[in-house]
Amino acid sequence: MSPRPIPLFKVFLPPREALAGPLLDTLYGGQITEGPKAAEFEHRFGAAIGNANVLGFYCGTAALHVALLLAGVQPGDEVVSTAMTAEPTNMAIAQAGARVAWADVDPVNGNLSAEGIAAAITPATKAIMVVHYGGIPAALDAIHAVAARHGLPVIEDCAHALGARYGGKPLGSHSPFVMFSFQAIKHMTTVDGGALAVSDPALLPKGRRLRWFGIDRALPRLEAEVAEVGWKYHMNDVTAQIGLVQLDHIEPVIARHRDNGRWFDRELAGIPGIEPARWDAKAEPSYWFYTLFADDRDGLMRRLNERGIAASLIHRRNDEHPLFAAARHALPGLDAFHARVLHIPCGWWVDDEDRERIAATIREGW
Ligand SMILES: Cc1ncc(COP(=O)(O)O)c(C=O)c1O
Repeated sequence: MSPRPIPLFKVFLPPREALAGPLLDTLYGGQITEGPKAAEFEHRFGAAIGNANVLGFYCGTAALHVALLLAGVQPGDEVVSTAMTAEPTNMAIAQAGARVAWADVDPVNGNLSAEGIAAAITPATKAIMVVHYGGIPAALDAIHAVAARHGLPVIEDCAHALGARYGGKPLGSHSPFVMFSFQAIKHMTTVDGGALAVSDPALLPKGRRLRWFGIDRALPRLEAEVAEVGWKYHMNDVTAQIGLVQLDHIEPVIARHRDNGRWFDRELAGIPGIEPARWDAKAEPSYWFYTLFADDRDGLMRRLNERGIAASLIHRRNDEHPLFAAARHALPGLDAFHARVLHIPCGWWVDDEDRERIAATIREGW
């Protein structure tokens, strides 16, 4: 009998008996689009990340787009970003009409390095987009020092990093703009959804207008004047209700990602032929997936896949896409990362037996 497959990603939803009642109540409650549930979700999610200034969104990409606009990014500006991410990070920059300027990554974890960012800044730069790749926090202290030197806002893409901490604090309040995604396979899903946490509460009214056609919904509809382009990016009460129930259940889910990650850190260290990723001393990852490096990465990937263990590179380097062709330039740190990196399952669905099986397969060699 072939062994039980271990996927790289799995949707977590609260138990049916916990979700079904509140969800049906909201669905048939007369208000299904943005209303009290969306507001309650913003409030409770803000408490969870330690930042009260939260806006809910239809998806994380929408939250990133609005973050860029609130940061003052305009068509023709440059945003320093990473090519080692899911496409939405950089698509949001394109949606804002700006150009990506690739900064190089630290080859030990795939996150932008402060040195890489400093080298990519030009007079046209208006913001710095930082992704905590795979749930490993980037070196925020060093990055903020570069940003401060140039007077640039940092936008954190925390799509992979809910529950990660830096300097003892949950990600969510370290930078002027912090985005989360609640897409299906993230640590916490609302089916689709996103949030933007900002450090300056004075930006919230504009953020609310940008996510709803430029209209101030606090005013009577016939009194609201539209003076800017806005989008239909709001979170609705149905997905917010899913998020509210998720918040009651998600802590042990994220704790299991962390526990599995730390277990792999210990168990995989010292196995000849592989190295786990490394990070800043202040970072505490939330291990959306586990990142390791191997000289014969393709051989290891094949062996794991043969044994039913999903292992892959997950994302294509974004600098290969024709859309970003004009930004291409040498990125030796990314080349080094990309040549040896492999991601393996680490999430809440990986039980003790599964992780032993993964470690044993790697120990056997390939
Ligand atoms: C790194 C990263 N940024 C942004 C996003 C966009 O999030 P969403 O799908 O919620 O728009 C995703 C995932 O989809 C992602 O992996």
